[in-house]
Amino acid sequence: MDISHEQIDLKKLLEEVVSFQQTEITHRDIDINYEMEDNLPQIESDRNQLQQVFLNIINNAIAAIDDGGRIDISVAGREDDSVVIAITDNGTGISEENLEHIFEPFFSTKGRFGTGLGLSITHNIVEKLGGAINAHSILGKGTRFTVTLPIKRSSVLKGSPHE
Ligand SMILES: Nc1ncnc2c1ncn2[C@@H]1O[C@H](COP(=O)(O)OP(=O)(O)OP(=O)(O)O)[C@@H](O)[C@H]1O
Ligand SMILES: [Mg+2]
Repeated sequence: MDISHEQIDLKKLLEEVVSFQQTEITHRDIDINYEMEDNLPQIESDRNQLQQVFLNIINNAIAAIDDGGRIDISVAGREDDSVVIAITDNGTGISEENLEHIFEPFFSTKGRFGTGLGLSITHNIVEKLGGAINAHSILGKGTRFTVTLPIKRSSVLKGSPHE
């Protein structure tokens, strides 16, 4: 899969991905909150692949919360020329045992409603883009996915085994 190098406004991209699910969000009275740092830099990355990353994470969050639930989306810059995007839901949470397997292909707790490929694909894309993804969860309370992405791909990916 080729990677494009585009200048991306993450705030716009995240709002766009949320808008793909706007009908369900409105219908189920889901509360989406944004916390975006001022003066965030644009990042050099692949727009379509980032859309897929955040769509997978947001779809999982939507599936995990009750009607009237809440999803917080934050973006913050870091000193080391990366940005951190956090997507937090107040849904079912994930057991410690399951948390060890969520990035594996075909791991799903959704029976015939899930292929279990979402997070495995997401993990591969994020690594390919030179970033990292982590999940924290408390069963019964909610889940936070954190995606760290380089502001400039070229500087981070030199010597990457993926290219
Ligand atoms: N935000 C979340 N809250 C609770 N559980 C989650 C969350 N995100 C992922 N999971 C758990 O991780 C599993 C794997 O997620 P993944 O997205 O890979 O597959 P899926 O959603 O089951 O199927 P699909 O391939 O359709 O995305 C889910 O089945 C679910 O148990
Ligand atoms: Mg999924």
